[in-house]
Amino acid sequence: MKKAPIGLFYGSSTCYTEMAAEKIQRQFDNGAMDVMNIADTPVSEMQHYQQLILGIPTWDYGELQEDWEDHWDDIDTVDLSGKTVALYGLGDQVGYPEWFLDAMGYLHNKVLVQGANIVGYWPNKGYEFTESQALTEDKQYFFGLALDDENEFDQTDERISTWCNELKTHFTLPS
Ligand SMILES: Cc1cc2nc3c(=O)[nH]c(=O)nc-3n(C[C@H](O)[C@H](O)[C@H](O)COP(=O)(O)O)c2cc1C
Repeated sequence: MKKAPIGLFYGSSTCYTEMAAEKIQRQFDNGAMDVMNIADTPVSEMQHYQQLILGIPTWDYGELQEDWEDHWDDIDTVDLSGKTVALYGLGDQVGYPEWFLDAMGYLHNKVLVQGANIVGYWPNKGYEFTESQALTEDKQYFFGLALDDENEFDQTDERISTWCNELKTHFTLPS
């Protein structure tokens, strides 16, 4: 089957990251994006896409979501050099303020060393937490879109829409 220009890969234990994936897909034209759950699609499929969106929630005090954890080493076998990659993360800044979105930070660092061109950094404004591994050195930006459906569900749609508009300036899409 012909691949879409963008591949979105996510892992999700209680469906929030999955719901966000569907919302992100709706921001783009029909057929612009294939959406895949890494629980049932091998991460090696990433190699077929030049443009990727990766969705990852943080679990258990700063840990990777279980499907990402299961396939963590497989990601090293995918050649990401020259690919345009954007990340989004789900977390709970009130319940887990010392580990907010940590897993997105670990995934960012992993794809960065593999030569991906990362886009879609997101301002750290309007969030309240103590620590996060998903922040730039100056702490001004998250490494990708920061979503908190536990506490700020009402802001999710707008955040997704703003972020996707920004991604459209980086991604190449058929006109
Ligand atoms: C047991 C448990 C541990 C969690 N640990 C963290 C954490 O360390 N950091 C964080 O930002 N969010 C944490 N969360 C919040 C989840 O990331 C959040 O609920 C997210 O929306 C789950 O996404 P998913 O349904 O796609 O798996 C935790 C949630 C639970 C229930």
